[in-house]
Amino acid sequence: MTTTPLRPRSEVRDLGLAAQGRQRIEWAGREMPVLRQIRERFATEKPLAGIRLVACCHVTTETAHLALALQAGGADALLIASNPLSTQDDVAASLVADHGIPVFALKGEDNDTYHRHVQIALDHRPNIIIDDGSDVTATLVQERSDQLSEIIGTTEETTTGIVRLRAMFRDGVLSFPAINVNDADTKHFFDNRYGTGQSTLDGIIRATNLLLAGKTLVIAGYGWCGKGVALRGRGMGANVIVTEIDPVRAIEAVMDGFRVMPMADAAAEGDLFVTVTGNKHVIRPEHFAAMKDGAIVCNSGHFDIEIDLKSLGEQATEVRDVRPFTQEYRLRSGKSVVVLGEGRLVNLAAAEGHPSAVMDMSFANQALACEYLVKNKGQLAPGLHSIPEAIDKDIARLKLASMGVQVDSLTSGQIEYMNSWTSGT
Ligand code: ADE
Repeated sequence: MTTTPLRPRSEVRDLGLAAQGRQRIEWAGREMPVLRQIRERFATEKPLAGIRLVACCHVTTETAHLALALQAGGADALLIASNPLSTQDDVAASLVADHGIPVFALKGEDNDTYHRHVQIALDHRPNIIIDDGSDVTATLVQERSDQLSEIIGTTEETTTGIVRLRAMFRDGVLSFPAINVNDADTKHFFDNRYGTGQSTLDGIIRATNLLLAGKTLVIAGYGWCGKGVALRGRGMGANVIVTEIDPVRAIEAVMDGFRVMPMADAAAEGDLFVTVTGNKHVIRPEHFAAMKDGAIVCNSGHFDIEIDLKSLGEQATEVRDVRPFTQEYRLRSGKSVVVLGEGRLVNLAAAEGHPSAVMDMSFANQALACEYLVKNKGQLAPGLHSIPEAIDKDIARLKLASMGVQVDSLTSGQIEYMNSWTSGT
């Protein structure tokens, strides 16, 4: 007998999109073998039984597989969007209609709706929060002190969220453990670098149909995400300029073969600008003023604060939609600046986010981080915790096995050598 899951209270665009979402989720699953194995184990072991869980993530086909793994593990999971523009409405519909998972997420939701959904998530009285940018965790510590005793811990997906969690800990408000998923090797080496690298260009190209070959691409920030965008931009034939505030990263960029200069100089040279710094107002009025007519600016950092759009709006005499996710600001000087995805994450606003193959590892970390929190309930000190190395390496081994790649192992003599200090020159 087949049963249809009950439809939970949810806010999604259109449940009629569920069939399309189901098909796209199935397709993504082909590239997510590690998470699939975790889901299968979770289905028999139920490590999350009895756990109320909130996931604040970009609602994509990949997140659907995470949600299904959590559900298989026994969690009472509720999903909200981590960004107003990143939701895939068909995926949200399928999770509700096909799997009975409550979802509060609509592509294009306004900020009030976004914050209302954060409150709904907290009304679920979570024991575990999976956060992407730390909005739910920050709201919890500011507004729901009565719920703190129910929290086992949180897990954080992004660099931006980790920066916020460190600040919360410094200010003495992080009274529970937070697992730093972002810094797992199997997360940031692949998701931040190759995921952001590819999906950012994908978003730019889908929005504009721009030929990158021969264009000057200015990348603000040379962290793992910036490195990925620079690498892939060069691969597409762009002349890449990097701007940085960190001297070591600037040397890395120079030795990786990129020009490095301040934004004040790069502004006049760039055809296309991508911000990936995690900081605010990286592109400001003086930069807009110096840009070429028709320069394109976009952001692939977590929040929509990197480009000072308010000032750009103030300088503009007209703003018009020229293509989906593409707006042209006509400035008083007569020049125009083109903004993609309203300055929000261009890879999720105008494309589909990181490809499934990297999210497989990122979300394997998330699922296993939740299991780790439950197993170690009450034993982890408040503050940030790394993903245990054993989990990171297990994910890498599973991924390699799924790719059919084998690696060497140490001989006993090599193990002995690595553990000794007596034999030198
Ligand atoms: N962050 C970046 N890409 C993503 C994706 N495809 N799914 C969920 N979160 C993401």
